[in-house]
Amino acid sequence: MIVLGIESTCDETGAAVARRLPLVEGGVNQGGIEILSDIKASSAEVLSKYGGVVPEVAAREQVAAIIPVIETALQKSGIKAEELEAVAVTQGPGLIGSLLIGVETAKALALAWGKPLIKVNHMVAHVFANWIVENGKATPELPAIALIVSGGHTDLMYLPSLTKWQWVGGTRDDAAGEAFDKAARAMGFPYPGGPMVARAAAEATGDLPSELKLPRPMIHEANLEMSFSGLKTALVEVMKTNKQKLEEEPGLVNVLAREFNEAVAEVLIKKTMMAVEKFQPKSVLLAGGVAANVTLRDGLKKAVHESGKEFFLPNLAYCTDNAAMIAACALMRPDYIDPVKLKPDASLGIE
Ligand code: KG4
Ligand code: ZN
Repeated sequence: MIVLGIESTCDETGAAVARRLPLVEGGVNQGGIEILSDIKASSAEVLSKYGGVVPEVAAREQVAAIIPVIETALQKSGIKAEELEAVAVTQGPGLIGSLLIGVETAKALALAWGKPLIKVNHMVAHVFANWIVENGKATPELPAIALIVSGGHTDLMYLPSLTKWQWVGGTRDDAAGEAFDKAARAMGFPYPGGPMVARAAAEATGDLPSELKLPRPMIHEANLEMSFSGLKTALVEVMKTNKQKLEEEPGLVNVLAREFNEAVAEVLIKKTMMAVEKFQPKSVLLAGGVAANVTLRDGLKKAVHESGKEFFLPNLAYCTDNAAMIAACALMRPDYIDPVKLKPDASLGIE
C-alpha cells in the first residue's frame, strides 16, 4: 500500500511517498513504514526576518512551494500517481491559511487522480513518525505512552492500540516548544527559537550562579499536568534582576539558556515517567518538534531504559514537521484508509 502525504501546517511545506511494509511473522518491522521520498521546503529563513511566524507570509510561501515539492517527491520515489492508494493531508491543528493550501491541493489531486483523500491529525501523525523504519529499526510494541511536544502542544497519551488513544496529561497553558520560542525571544536569540536556545545551552560553560536558578513548575505535584508559562515569566524576571551581570559577562546568557533547557526537560521527563509508572506500557514514544532537543532525548531515553521499557524516537528529520509522518499516519491507521470515513476520529480526543 503506497500513499502520498502532504504537510502544510505552519512554515514547512512537505510531500512524501511512503509504503506500509508487510507484517512478517517474528520479524522486527511488524508492518512499519518505508519512506520512498520525503521533500521539505521551509520558509523559516524568510520568517526569521519578521522575528517569527507571520501567518499571511507563511501561507504565501506555502503557495509558492507546494507544487514543486509534490512533483519532486513523486519523481524521487519513482512512483507514478496511478500507483498510489490514496492522498493523505494534514487537516489540522495549524495555521488556517497554511493548512488550506495543503488541503485544497490534496483535494484537487485526489479528484484528478481518482484516489481517496485521507485527512490526518497533525499531532497524531507526529507520534506515527515512530513507525518509520530505517536500517532495520524495530517498530514500537503497544501499549505505549507517547509524549507529544511541539510548538502548539504538550500532551501525554496512552495508546493501548493503534486506534484507541487516551489523553492522560499535558500542559495547562503554554506548550513546551512555545516556551522555548518565548524564552529565545526574551534572551535575544533569532527565530526559530527552540533550536537556538538548545544550541546556546550546549555552548554554555561554568556553573550556574544561584541567582539564575529557575523553577521546575509542578514537578512535585502528583498528577500528569504541566505548566510552562510561569517558567517563561520567571526567566524574564531573572533577566531583569540580573540585567547588568548578564550584559557584563558575555557567556552568562548561555548558562541561563542551559538552565531553561534543563528546567523544561526535567519537567517533561518527570511527568512522562510518572505516566509510565501509572500505565506500565511496553514502550515510550517521543514525538514533535521539541523531540529534536538533545537534553530531552537523552534524558528521557536514560530514564525509560532504567525503568526497563523500550524507548522510541524518530530520526531528527521526522521530529520537526514533515510529510513522511503524514503518510505514515494514513498508512498505520487502517480506519483512515476508508474513503467513506473522512471525518477525524473523535476518540483521539485531541482535535
Ligand atoms: O512539531 P513542530 O516542528 O511544529 C509544530 O507542530 O508546532 O515543532 C516546532 C517547535 C518549535 O516551538 C521549536 O522551537 C521547537 O519545536 N524545537 C525545539 C528544538 N527544535 C525544535 N525546541 C527545543 N530544542 C530543539 N532542539
Ligand atoms: Zn508539528
